[in-house]
Amino acid sequence: MQDFLLMIYYWLKAGHLIFVIFWMAGLFMLPRQMVYMHDSAPGSAEEALWAKRSGLLRKVILTPSMIAVWVFGLLLAYSSGAFAQGWFHAKLLLVILLSGYHGWMVANAKKMARGERPLSEKTLRVVNEVPGVAAVLIVILVVIKPF
Ligand code: HEM
Repeated sequence: MQDFLLMIYYWLKAGHLIFVIFWMAGLFMLPRQMVYMHDSAPGSAEEALWAKRSGLLRKVILTPSMIAVWVFGLLLAYSSGAFAQGWFHAKLLLVILLSGYHGWMVANAKKMARGERPLSEKTLRVVNEVPGVAAVLIVILVVIKPF
């Protein structure tokens, strides 16, 4: 099994990076959509339109991409023996936190679609920076492998 995974290692890495791009794009888009949903009146047609768009973003891009990133990433780690390396432990912690952020934002978007406003517009703009900061740290960890 490990031999086969090593044979297709670069294909796994390509798949991993393709879905990392989709996942990050979705994570950047969701809070922006939520800012627009925030501006619309609860129960209005505009709110319903943004709720539909954020539902589609979640079902078509966010959730499938996050699953694909995890599957490809864990296969890469298994084939390369990354589980024994320090940088990978730090990366794992960051991607677990990022997945938690994903779940938290999706839960908030669902509440907003029901007419609730769990987060202020300012909070949405601040948390919008989380995926960017996580991406910077994760890419430094995987490329530089400082420990
Ligand atoms: C979700 C769970 C994830 C797992 C289990 C995982 C695991 C891995 C593993 C084992 C590698 C191979 C590293 C090597 O040996 O050189 C890798 C490569 C890479 N990962 Fe992830 N990863 C995950 C998520 C992410 C995320 C969220 C990002 C970016 C935001 C990311 C960015 C990268 C990049 C840029 C590489 C290529 C590094 C290189 O070729 O030098 N990964 N990942």
